[in-house]
Amino acid sequence: MAKVICFANQKGGVGKTTSTNALAMGLKHKGYRVLCIDFDPQGNLSFSMNADTEPPTIYDVVKRKVKCRFAIRHTDLIDIIPSNLLLSSVEVEFTGNGREFLLKDCIKQVSPMYDYILIDSPPELGVLTVNAFTAANVVLVPVLTDVYSLQGITRLYDTLEHIKRTLNPDLKFGGMLLVRYNAREELSRTVLATAEMVSKSLNIPLLRTHIRSSVMIAKAQAMQKDMIQLAPGNHAVMDYMQLTNELLKGVL
Ligand SMILES: Nc1ncnc2c1ncn2[C@@H]1O[C@H](COP(=O)(O)OP(=O)(O)O)[C@@H](O)[C@H]1O
Ligand SMILES: [Mg+2]
Repeated sequence: MAKVICFANQKGGVGKTTSTNALAMGLKHKGYRVLCIDFDPQGNLSFSMNADTEPPTIYDVVKRKVKCRFAIRHTDLIDIIPSNLLLSSVEVEFTGNGREFLLKDCIKQVSPMYDYILIDSPPELGVLTVNAFTAANVVLVPVLTDVYSLQGITRLYDTLEHIKRTLNPDLKFGGMLLVRYNAREELSRTVLATAEMVSKSLNIPLLRTHIRSSVMIAKAQAMQKDMIQLAPGNHAVMDYMQLTNELLKGVL
């Protein structure tokens, strides 16, 4: 059965999609069988992985219109189940019991075909993210090195703990990941110090690898290319490769 990893943070623009993309490519280059699930209605991961977002998407799978395996796209980068804006209607369409298990039930069917399933989640703590947490073994939380980024962590932590107690006792908080880190900036160092404090007080790991900023990261996604193939020597790409190694030695 595949190990399921989810990138989450209710704040947008903190590097969830980028980190999902990068870890997927990192694991793929190490020879693992990886499936990505775009669980954000914005469909950014689908775009960056060069997948079309026409039906069937993850929305059709969740709605049971199509079996999970028939929604997988085998792009030149990765295997991925794409999403589009329709996914946002899950919140109003599913109101009954068991709506937290929609994604977990879908994944079961394809889990034996992969080593890792990576879920990109939307910037909210609603039903979509709760589904991602219920389906996941490990949650990783990218945190931007700006002043506001750590503010939501306590709420995110409470949500995770709640899911752990009620729906998914095996769920593991894999750690916070500092993204767009610049050791020369005082602000980045301040955020690092705060992140260390939060990590200690909530008892959640802070990953040792920090991801530095580079335009190459945005460029690879815009070009729908594999960042490791495009720029293996780029510092931020190397950071993501180091992150892959750190995670493989630890939580994965
Ligand atoms: N390390 C980085 N260096 C430079 N740009 C980055 C880096 N990480 C992410 N970005 C850019 O920041 C923006 C937001 O990242 P994204 O992964 O889409 O965040 P989220 O999925 O949390 O909304 C994107 O344009 C992305 O290309
Ligand atoms: Mg995103």
